[in-house]
Amino acid sequence: LDNGLMRTPPMGWLAWERFRCDIDCDNDPKNCISENLFIDMADRLFKDGWKELGYVYVNIDDCWASMERDKQGRLQADPKRFPGGILKLSRYMHDRGLKLGIYADMGTHTCGGYPGTPLDKIKIDAQTFADWEVDMLKFDGCYSDVMQQEEGYPLMSMALNATGRPIAYSCSWPAYQGGLPPKVNYTQLGEICNLWRNYGDIQDSWDSVLRIVDWFFENQDILSAAAGPGRWNDPDMLVIGDFGLSIDQSRSQMALWAIMAAPLYMSNDLRTISNEARAILQNKMAISISQDVSGFQGRRIVKEKSGIEVFWRPLSKNTSALVFFSRRTDMPFRYKTSLSRLNYESGSYKVIDVFTDKSVMLKDSTYFVVSVNPTGVVMLYLSAPAKLNPRLFYRGGQR
Ligand code: GLA
Repeated sequence: LDNGLMRTPPMGWLAWERFRCDIDCDNDPKNCISENLFIDMADRLFKDGWKELGYVYVNIDDCWASMERDKQGRLQADPKRFPGGILKLSRYMHDRGLKLGIYADMGTHTCGGYPGTPLDKIKIDAQTFADWEVDMLKFDGCYSDVMQQEEGYPLMSMALNATGRPIAYSCSWPAYQGGLPPKVNYTQLGEICNLWRNYGDIQDSWDSVLRIVDWFFENQDILSAAAGPGRWNDPDMLVIGDFGLSIDQSRSQMALWAIMAAPLYMSNDLRTISNEARAILQNKMAISISQDVSGFQGRRIVKEKSGIEVFWRPLSKNTSALVFFSRRTDMPFRYKTSLSRLNYESGSYKVIDVFTDKSVMLKDSTYFVVSVNPTGVVMLYLSAPAKLNPRLFYRGGQR
């Protein structure tokens, strides 16, 4: 969506995967969905170096609303859990250079059973979010049908625009229609949404991450063509720092999300996150690869019988990134290759290992070995031209 927002993949924090619909503030005050949770996370983003790295969105997900609309028919926040209302939270974010995101659902109810935003409520809800000075809307799709979605998602895009407030727009629409053409029209999505969920919800497990990775790279021809500045595929939240991923698997998620030019929304507890997880999420080189201004979504270029896969993303200023990923479950695998085998033009490249910071010069023809841990990655940043095959990166005339 050409609204000037999200010219690089958005970064921030989103409540859902880690905190779900915990509304039990009496017994679980630190973790329940309440203004305190978002204030706590904003404080961490502001004080622990996240904001400077680009993690600026703080996103409320489901279960924030009161069960009743107010007398004027507007959504309202649960008065007990959000006594200051949403406007207080936006102001809190803005005072700290952060942004606030909110959640609604194009249907009768949200997925969690809270009041939805059916067609006749779209305008009033868009205006309410603008009045609350919200910076982003995630518009979910539970409890609506194909026809209503076809009408509702573009309508909300126009309604947000009509408020005059820049509000980034995340559409869950494709995820409800299988994520693929002909049911999903990516040209249209790129015109009306800044990002969109293509596929099912992430869970706190390696299984879930792998399922998402498989789906996105199996469909990379379609998906890469759809992505670009202001319009991103969203493989869902980062679960790094939670319970399900090992350190190697956490690096894998970070590396592959950066290769995919995916939004980087963490869903974790920033108050208690381990130093190892923080270091992965705050890796400057991985973030700069993710945030590259060219906005190309990278691809899988090699799939070996051995279980090693190679991913590639071309970056601006003739740089590029490579990820070597192992699906193996035995031991670190020593994978031997050369840059020319990976389609690089002849020449000398400066190669930096993103997670160890070691750098070497490599000639395209020189064979080298990367040692890839089980379910882990080696991620490289290369500063010399990668061969760009225009057929692979054709994006409907847009650049
Ligand atoms: C759906 C979405 C999730 C989350 C929940 C909330 O499942 O895909 O990301 O927003 O609804 O109920």
